[in-house]
Amino acid sequence: MLRFYTAGESHGQALLAFLSGLPAGLPIDVAAINHELHRRQLGYGRGGRQKIEKDNAEIFAGVRHGQTIGAPIAVRIENRDWSNWEKILSVEATDDPAAASRKLVAPRPGHADLAGSQKLNFHDARYVLERASARETAARVAAGAFARQLLRQFGIEMASHTVQVGHVRLERAATWDEIAAVCKDLDSPLRCVDGPTQEKMMAEVDAALKAGDTVGGVFEIMVHQVPIGLGSHAQWDEKLDGKLAKALMSVQAVKAVEIGAGILAAGSYGSEVQDEISYDKVANRFKRASNRAGGLEGGITNGEDLVLRGFLKPISTLRKPLGTADMVTKEPVQAAYERSDWCVVPAGGVAGEAMVALVLADAFLRKFGGDSLAETRRNYEGYGRQIDQF
Ligand SMILES: Cc1cc2nc3c(=O)[nH]c(=O)nc-3n(C[C@H](O)[C@H](O)[C@H](O)COP(=O)(O)O)c2cc1C
Repeated sequence: MLRFYTAGESHGQALLAFLSGLPAGLPIDVAAINHELHRRQLGYGRGGRQKIEKDNAEIFAGVRHGQTIGAPIAVRIENRDWSNWEKILSVEATDDPAAASRKLVAPRPGHADLAGSQKLNFHDARYVLERASARETAARVAAGAFARQLLRQFGIEMASHTVQVGHVRLERAATWDEIAAVCKDLDSPLRCVDGPTQEKMMAEVDAALKAGDTVGGVFEIMVHQVPIGLGSHAQWDEKLDGKLAKALMSVQAVKAVEIGAGILAAGSYGSEVQDEISYDKVANRFKRASNRAGGLEGGITNGEDLVLRGFLKPISTLRKPLGTADMVTKEPVQAAYERSDWCVVPAGGVAGEAMVALVLADAFLRKFGGDSLAETRRNYEGYGRQIDQF
């Protein structure tokens, strides 16, 4: 239903996002898109690139007079660094020495550099790393911001926070109110809900920088007020838990995904893991005593908050470079160093939110359909009555 893709190289002229399938008549707030782009650029442990870029979404298609018109949406985010790369990454063939000087023949372990160059048959990892770079997440965040605006029309909100940086972990669960509040605080260095834990996380980031090293960590996304019944139990590729895991796993450096208490549950007894069901006769609705399932049972949303975690490996580019082999001479060399972040957990969370928003908006439109927002709303309200009368 909702399709999107991105284009653009990290140091190319711009990043582009294309989004198709949103109903017509959805009010679009450009400031809210730019707010998400700004959030992606924040976080303690970011490199110099964030000082150069000030991401801004320019909409080229699909939105007129402040609303979607049922046509594909095209968005462009200019790369300010392009002025420094114009000669190096020119579209036309070039023999400018600037281009030769930025060839990358010492592939960096942990990046797509070597496998991508072998696959595409280039003895220069530049073309591969330009596209593999997580700068691409800016385009995803722009697309996700549209999906978020659809979900918001129906009261669905999401937020993320940092639950681990390196060896420092938040040792308690956070409530929706806490996560939503810390998300609004753009001055929060690592977007952790607990002050003393955040101090320790910052010390971990500082220690990594001092050692020429990097750290990974874990972000948690919570989605609030999700309707019952998004996704399906009927086919493997319709299960929403699988779609969400794929979407989060596709974010650069995410190496594991957890839904609810998934990891703890694997080492627990069944009696300790399931969420018992009761019926609240006053509120006239079913409820669960806990939410260890993270809002998903059998691939279907059950009306509880969605709770998803993305586990990021430490950033691969190290100031103290790792050993590698030159792609041309085949001799041992040190891996190339490109200006780099050394902790990206909060930004990973923002990219993760965008991916979750896109998957949920797609599931929402599969369930409720509608060419216009008014039609989607009618279908949604009719279903709401069915759930109330169940
Ligand atoms: C927001 C964000 C920023 C990132 N910044 C960097 C970076 O500055 N340097 C780096 O080596 N990796 C960075 N990464 C991770 C790499 O893009 C990623 O590890 C690499 O493309 C290989 O992909 P994989 O780790 O998913 O296998 C970042 C990831 C995210 C989510």
